[in-house]
Amino acid sequence: MGNRLIGYGSYLPERVVANQDFEKIMDTSDEWIVTRTGMRERHFARDDETVVDMATIAAQRALDNAGLTIDDIDLVIVANVSAELDFPSVGCQVLGRLGAKNNAPAFDVRGACTGFIYALHCARGFFTSGMHRRIMLIGAEKMSRFIDYNDRSTAVLFGDGAGALIFEHSTSSYSGIIDTVIMSDGTEFDMLHGSPDHHIMMNGPETYKKAVQLMPDAANYIMEHAGITADNVDWIIPHQANLRIIQSCAQRLEFPLEKILVTVDKHANTSGASGVLALAYAFDNDIIKRGQLILYPAFGSGLTWGAALIRV
Ligand code: ACO
Repeated sequence: MGNRLIGYGSYLPERVVANQDFEKIMDTSDEWIVTRTGMRERHFARDDETVVDMATIAAQRALDNAGLTIDDIDLVIVANVSAELDFPSVGCQVLGRLGAKNNAPAFDVRGACTGFIYALHCARGFFTSGMHRRIMLIGAEKMSRFIDYNDRSTAVLFGDGAGALIFEHSTSSYSGIIDTVIMSDGTEFDMLHGSPDHHIMMNGPETYKKAVQLMPDAANYIMEHAGITADNVDWIIPHQANLRIIQSCAQRLEFPLEKILVTVDKHANTSGASGVLALAYAFDNDIIKRGQLILYPAFGSGLTWGAALIRV
């Protein structure tokens, strides 16, 4: 049993924070941020704007795009690590906000920057088993909640936003979520984690080294597993952590840069929302066309890493 993509939606908060805005409040520069990360601006949610608010808007836009209502969805999975409430799940809250009456289940996955790949992996399993027929996947993060303005090495790296995709069952195995792989290594937990006072603790150089090794590894693994080569892939949408990481991955994979989608300059690192926001941006701007094959590798706190192959 396969699946196909039938709708997408996204939401970015109105407030745009440029590198120059950081220059005013900490010892940094636009030049440093652009050179080290490729980031130019990011969106920050309002103080009263929550992960659930953003996820709900993205979800409604995906439903509108698919021509469906929330009662047509029989499972919601949300990738996020930044929800304001420990419980209930963002998924349940989104169903409530949208007035779902069909008792569909919902749960969140906490795979950090790999979270959306974890969600895609779950969805693929549910379609393969035939347990669910129409699944909404949401990536939603308010990473600005975690910013420590006394730590310039992490403060400039993150942004907020949400994206949603709706897949439905299909008899074709050549569309939708074609393949996924997810992995983790908890022994490397110290490299990148949240602190009890909700700040991001990161060893930047070590994280960088791991990212440029593990994202290409996951990409190569999934291409081999699916029996395809780089020539079959139309676009790579890497997790948008840092432009230098993205370029290094492209080089290791011997992928031309024209096939790599980059939104890190506009959105910065939105963790579990980064890949789905990038895909929505590419649809909105007619960059990626329906029917093309996307390779989406990601890496994040956990450590977690993985990749997905999606024919959109
Ligand atoms: N502005 C100006 N200078 C800065 C800033 C800043 N914002 N931040 C750090 N510096 C300084 C440092 O203090 C250091 O100064 P020093 O040499 O006087 O000590 C210098 O710049 C170099 O610091 P490095 O940490 O070595 O800089 P590096 O080139 O490694 O770049 C960066 C830092 C951008 C964080 C890089 O290591 C990186 O991208 N790492 C991966 C980060 C990442 O992808 N994280 C997300 C993972 S996914 C997830 O799950 C959240």
